[in-house]
Amino acid sequence: MTADRSAPPGAAGADRPSRRDVIASAGVGAVALNVARPAQAQQSSASAARAFPPGFVWGTATSSYQIEGAWNVDGKGESIWDRFAHTPGEIQNGDTGDVAVDHYHRYKADVQLMRALGAGAYRFSLSWPRIFPDGVGAPNPAGLDFYDRLTDELLANGIAPFATLYHWDLPQALEDRGGWESRDTAQAFADYAGHAGAKLSDRIGHFFTINEISTFVDLGYVTGIFAPGLKLPPARLNQVRHHAVLAHGLAVQSIRASARPGTKVGPAENVAAVVPAVETSENIDAAERAMRELNAGILTVMLEGRYTDAFLAAAGADAPKFSAEDLKAIASPLDFVGINVYMPTYVRATATPPGYEVVPPAKSHPRMASSWQVFGPESLYWAPRHLHKIWNVKEIYISENGCGAADQPAADGIVYDSDRVMFLRGYLAMLQRATADGVPVRGYFLWSLLDNFEWTSGYGTRFGLVHVDFATQTRTPKLSAAYYSEAIRRNALP
Ligand code: FCB
Repeated sequence: MTADRSAPPGAAGADRPSRRDVIASAGVGAVALNVARPAQAQQSSASAARAFPPGFVWGTATSSYQIEGAWNVDGKGESIWDRFAHTPGEIQNGDTGDVAVDHYHRYKADVQLMRALGAGAYRFSLSWPRIFPDGVGAPNPAGLDFYDRLTDELLANGIAPFATLYHWDLPQALEDRGGWESRDTAQAFADYAGHAGAKLSDRIGHFFTINEISTFVDLGYVTGIFAPGLKLPPARLNQVRHHAVLAHGLAVQSIRASARPGTKVGPAENVAAVVPAVETSENIDAAERAMRELNAGILTVMLEGRYTDAFLAAAGADAPKFSAEDLKAIASPLDFVGINVYMPTYVRATATPPGYEVVPPAKSHPRMASSWQVFGPESLYWAPRHLHKIWNVKEIYISENGCGAADQPAADGIVYDSDRVMFLRGYLAMLQRATADGVPVRGYFLWSLLDNFEWTSGYGTRFGLVHVDFATQTRTPKLSAAYYSEAIRRNALP
């Protein structure tokens, strides 16, 4: 089966199966019907003012370890997250991703949930050790078969697949040989990426290389609260990050070499989303400077092919060891840039170098259920605007945005997550502002379709549009699912 790359099957406005006939069977109806509808005339004038561009891609996002389960079936190898979660004391409540939300076996029903939402795209990750149990060497065909089936199921339902090649589940076999501290891991990743590109690009048009290098490096190798649980000194840490950006660049090259012509590839990085604390021209200039420097070790080197002087000076003797060829590979031309945006970094201008200063959020600044998540919708305006203005990026995806909430089903069994609806309304309003200003954002992936295994927090923190009863695996769409579905239906801010 082949997908039309120019118009993803599920792009807003594209001809696709009606959502109405599947909504009831997937259970969204109960909440959707409770949403008050404004009068038709009012609705269309409001929609026009808050519209997203025609063809805007609306999707949801997940990752393999967080949803699949089936951790040791059909020849899958062990990943560093399997090992870490099986280590007593590392994860809240001793939770593991062994079963997760059993997506491996329930993917067909989960695709129906997406279809009921009206989502036109789905971002999921491939489990590297499912495909290469030892990280390198002979592939496990049964592993790839799962992604074949999932891809076909998505396309049959009018949903465009967007695949992430690495969402943190490194094969344990590679960790045993040095993991990201070893340069060989970057080459192994490129080889795996080439294999995935060759096998899947007849149907998958967009590949994200690595999800959030900054998160897995900082939490896995500095604080050690993520797999593999290491606390490295600065020089080794900087080398890990360098190997990760190198792996990204080499993977871009192997996708180009092995995938169908026209296949698009880019990163999915959680940039520091720099926001001018007050929108003055001085603070906007300061925000642009800060955007380059605060992302210097990852996005800036990918887009400019050099580490900034300030980055190298700050690292001093601990700077990563690299060659000119490395930098060239790291900056391999991209088709798009994906950014995961959850919270803002506020800055203001200063008269002295570096010309900006981070303004820490006030103690009483509103936060979402996770204490790290400062509520700052403007981040979804400024981050993509900077990509366009500073680096002239012409195709941007918001590869993740969403929030955790202390979801509790009400007496009728529905989660009325008014906080998540507030969050989405605020952030999407700012994204709409960006598109209305001409910033080329092509699509948005909401994290997450389903409640799932939230890393160190286990099943204690819920990010889904769809509630999951982890004991019974029952899926029930929340109020936020009805809100998001309405945004998709209108291709505008409800
Ligand atoms: C992002 C991760 C994703 C999920 C969300 C809440 O940093 O990419 O896997 O944990 O945060």
